[in-house]
Amino acid sequence: MSSVALLPRKDVGAGRVRQWSRSPANVGLARRELREALADWGLGTIEDDALVVLSELMTNAVLHAKVPGRVIKTSFRPVGCGLWISVEDASAVRPQLRAEDAAGGRGLRLVARLSYRWGVRERVGGVGKAVWAFLKASPEGRS
Ligand SMILES: Nc1ncnc2c1ncn2[C@@H]1O[C@H](COP(=O)(O)OP(=O)(O)OP(=O)(O)O)[C@@H](O)[C@H]1O
Ligand SMILES: [Mg+2]
Repeated sequence: MSSVALLPRKDVGAGRVRQWSRSPANVGLARRELREALADWGLGTIEDDALVVLSELMTNAVLHAKVPGRVIKTSFRPVGCGLWISVEDASAVRPQLRAEDAAGGRGLRLVARLSYRWGVRERVGGVGKAVWAFLKASPEGRS
């Protein structure tokens, strides 16, 4: 599968939406896009946390949502006092937050720690789900 993004970036309102093939190389490209967006939006203070959250969610979509031929969709949006990130994939299997003492499961625990809120919702009008996270503009605002 090609490692390039499939479609040109779409700016939706103030947000940025893009679809990617399920290639690990696209995690890096999506990170670059998020970094640029955060700079544009004056949200550079949460860049480190936001990039970790995006990496974990997108890596999960690449590794765990193995639906042949289906793409991953990322959405970034500045909202109120923070940033909303969503990663959609075509698998109906839901993420499982693993216990602290589990061998794996570091990724979602990190997402939970770095975000103010995170969650999963079904995709409107499509198969699969969106895993989303909201990060407050000041990291002290984490819950
Ligand atoms: N997008 C997804 N689609 C389907 N299952 C998922 C998805 N994201 C996570 N999961 C499930 O939730 C589990 C926990 O995810 P988590 O990211 O915490 O750990 P991991 O990916 O297994 O390991 P790592 O510590 O490397 O992230 C995964 O093992 C997988 O079973
Ligand atoms: Mg993971």
